[in-house]
Amino acid sequence: MTDVLSPSSSGLAAAGLALQHGRLVAFPTETIYGLGADATSDAAIALLYATKGRPQFNPLIVHVASADEAAALVEVSPWAEKLMLQFWPGPLTLVLPRAEGCAASLLCSAGLDTLAIRCPAHPVARAMIDAAGVPIAAPSANRSGHVSPTTPQHVVDEFAGHDEPSLVLAGGRSPIGLESTVLDLTGDRPVLLRPGAVLASEIEAALDTTVQIGLGDPNRPNAPGQLLSHYAPAARVRLDTRTPAADEAYLAFGPVHQIQAAHMLNLSEQGDLQEAAANLFAHLRALDLPDIKCIAVAPIPEVGLGIAINDRLRRAAAPRDQART
Ligand code: TXA
Ligand code: MG
Repeated sequence: MTDVLSPSSSGLAAAGLALQHGRLVAFPTETIYGLGADATSDAAIALLYATKGRPQFNPLIVHVASADEAAALVEVSPWAEKLMLQFWPGPLTLVLPRAEGCAASLLCSAGLDTLAIRCPAHPVARAMIDAAGVPIAAPSANRSGHVSPTTPQHVVDEFAGHDEPSLVLAGGRSPIGLESTVLDLTGDRPVLLRPGAVLASEIEAALDTTVQIGLGDPNRPNAPGQLLSHYAPAARVRLDTRTPAADEAYLAFGPVHQIQAAHMLNLSEQGDLQEAAANLFAHLRALDLPDIKCIAVAPIPEVGLGIAINDRLRRAAAPRDQART
């Protein structure tokens, strides 16, 4: 059984010690819960891949408590510096060249000469990184291919019956509910690898340059955010419908009338995209019931946070025979 600890000073000290000993700690961030490991330890990162059941070729995000800590790991370009100043701490991950003498395990980079780095805003995440005293590699704290966790209970449910993290730091619900925006800054143009709460339009305004919407270079390992089937519940997912069948579960958005679905949850009755993002993964989990074969989902407007929500929904609905991470 995984220990679930409150982030008191003793809980944080226990988490820091566990991480220093190469163990795994699940922890809250403002986006989703992460499964943390000492990014400088090959053994800890190997354990992380094994526990997650993740294909080795998918690189990891390394979490730091400040831009200064990032500068020891990656080459901070002028664009990167600008974005760190404006959006850190917060839900923006930057892919940058590994710095000379970068202490992060090469396994974090999965064979690339780049490293993804993020400075989370959640106070528990920050306190835990400080307590560990090392950068923390952390993918979403779910088994590979599943829906990302936004509560401590989701994490416990994910690993029940499998190899479990040593402990879970409980920090309530992740307020944003969607993984960070991932931006590749290694080329001559910024490339958005995964949409998130920091919008491409905000990045363009900050850098005064256009952001390419990345489908990725087929010769490079894909971001899991780019693999088609991902974030998938056990039930099938059917998108863009206002008329669920009577035996389907319905994930609604905005006001609903005369819906006959077997079960229904609303992402946001007011049609608020921020509220919808925060509810998305928890509602998908809640509707993924043994008697439900299909979750029908209402149309979500493709604007602002809706872009990231639709990205996750399309992957949840993708055919399952494609590689999942
Ligand atoms: O919000 C988040 O980012 C959460 C929390 C825990 O911080 N973490 C997260 O990690 O979502 P994960 O491993 O589920 O997603 C990492 C994303 C993937 O799309 C991965 O391919 C991409 O970042 N990535 C990591 N390193 C990369 C690299 N060197 N080059 C390109 N993409 C990279
Ligand atoms: Mg993930």
